[in-house]
Amino acid sequence: MGWNALKAAAGAAAGRKITDLLAAEGRAEAFSISAGDLFFDYSKTTMAAGDRDLLLSLYAATGVAERREAMFSGARINETEDRAVLHTALRNLDGGPVLVDGADVMPGVLETLARMERFAAALRSGEITTPGGGRFTDIVNIGIGGSDLGPAMAVQALAPYHDGPRCHFVSNVDGAHVYDVLNGLNPASTLVIVASKTFTTIETMTNAETARTWIAAKVGADHAGAHFAALSSAVDKTAAFGIDPARVFGFEDWVGGRYSVWGPIGLSLMLAIGPEAFRAFLRGGQAMDRHFRAAEPLENLPVMLALTGLWHHQGCGHPTRAVLPYEQRLARLPAYLQQLEMESNGKRVTMGGEDAPAVTGPIVWGEPGTNGQHAFYQLIHQGTGVVPCEFMVGAEGHHAELAHQHTLLIANCLAQAEALMVGRSLEEARALMRDAGLEGAELERQARHRVFPGNRPSTMLVYPKLTPFVLGQIIALYEHRVFVEGAMLGINSYDQWGVELGKVLAKRIEPIVAGDAAPDALDPSTRQIIATLQRQRG
Ligand code: F6P
Repeated sequence: MGWNALKAAAGAAAGRKITDLLAAEGRAEAFSISAGDLFFDYSKTTMAAGDRDLLLSLYAATGVAERREAMFSGARINETEDRAVLHTALRNLDGGPVLVDGADVMPGVLETLARMERFAAALRSGEITTPGGGRFTDIVNIGIGGSDLGPAMAVQALAPYHDGPRCHFVSNVDGAHVYDVLNGLNPASTLVIVASKTFTTIETMTNAETARTWIAAKVGADHAGAHFAALSSAVDKTAAFGIDPARVFGFEDWVGGRYSVWGPIGLSLMLAIGPEAFRAFLRGGQAMDRHFRAAEPLENLPVMLALTGLWHHQGCGHPTRAVLPYEQRLARLPAYLQQLEMESNGKRVTMGGEDAPAVTGPIVWGEPGTNGQHAFYQLIHQGTGVVPCEFMVGAEGHHAELAHQHTLLIANCLAQAEALMVGRSLEEARALMRDAGLEGAELERQARHRVFPGNRPSTMLVYPKLTPFVLGQIIALYEHRVFVEGAMLGINSYDQWGVELGKVLAKRIEPIVAGDAAPDALDPSTRQIIATLQRQRG
């Protein structure tokens, strides 16, 4: 019922002009929110006050607030895996007990954090040395999905805070990835972190074996183990791999892979920026948690970000959304959010196993500005479909001597949002062509190519500067946005059964590709492709 009403409201809004909405006194102020360091403006959308009321009533009717409290208090809301969802406990630095089945998880969380800090501090100071007595100059994090994207994104985002060893990331099972990363490094001064919640992921285990062979070839098999650490919730398996338990940082099954950067999976980030800055990152996440739990829906940043998303996707039917950080160091954020949003909310049945009540997760994509402007913005401005754009930009960069470039960056970001909204009419395009000396049929023809339909929605997230504390707020904001969207749709945002089938089939196909098994059970198309590949491999 509610979702149909939302679609009807969005249908009625289709002819509405964003510029008309913004002409009303107070629209910009009424359709924006501040929370901590973040400011979010969603006034450049077709959502009117009545639509927002409808969204808020849908929010209230779907029991999100109760589910939120259930999540924070350790209930097993991930029902298909029978797990609690408590990544928030990893940043609950001084927030009191969090109970799972009656037991407080916080002592364990804080003890692991303290162990990570001792390890990071000792490695960064040179107290922990290589078996040869030298310093570890380089860290290679081997992991994939949530065991890669979070730390890789955050390490890049916080480059100005790096004062530790250099960090590198290997994820793809394509041997080219591990080859290219290891190729430039000295095994004798490299620490390999094997990051895998399950410690069974084929890509990670294969790359870890390759790295072990690479290290052993230089320092000898007996010393290779001293070049490894592990981040996992499968501590028995890390021991079987031969990693010293003192270098294993465990976490519980209530930390989902794509929500795990806040704990041991963030070790590479902690090594790069130091324990203190890592704590600032955690504090940013914790500040957003507090806001999310306390603020009324209309003043609640994750809630309003989610409702804007639902307006565009479930209401207006725009199938994708672009995340456009005007911050080069957030280059991996769109990829990170792809996993966060699409692995969480790309589901087709509700918690109870019924068909989802509306279309679920939108397709999330993006690139940093201004690069995207010179690539895909053409389609955003003049394509036939509408892509809601989520811009983000910082007031300041980190380099005072380049402040003029930052001003240009901000101007570009604002200009794009403005151009999407205002567009250019046929009349204006004709005038341009007239000024260029065209006339008649040629003027008409050329003018049409220069029309921008406008009325294309965007939101803007503004922050002072990309510090660890601010990054923590941004990531937690998006996590909670995913939670709200998923909870309103009644789906389980915390399982990922959709990734399993391909893994099973890959295991069956591998021996066939290797020529060790007959392809009989495969379909003719796949058999034909394998035969071609085998011929081409020689
Ligand atoms: O295959 C998907 C997935 O399970 C993700 O959810 C997870 O982040 C990734 O693989 C890596 O898993 P692991 O940390 O267990 O190696």
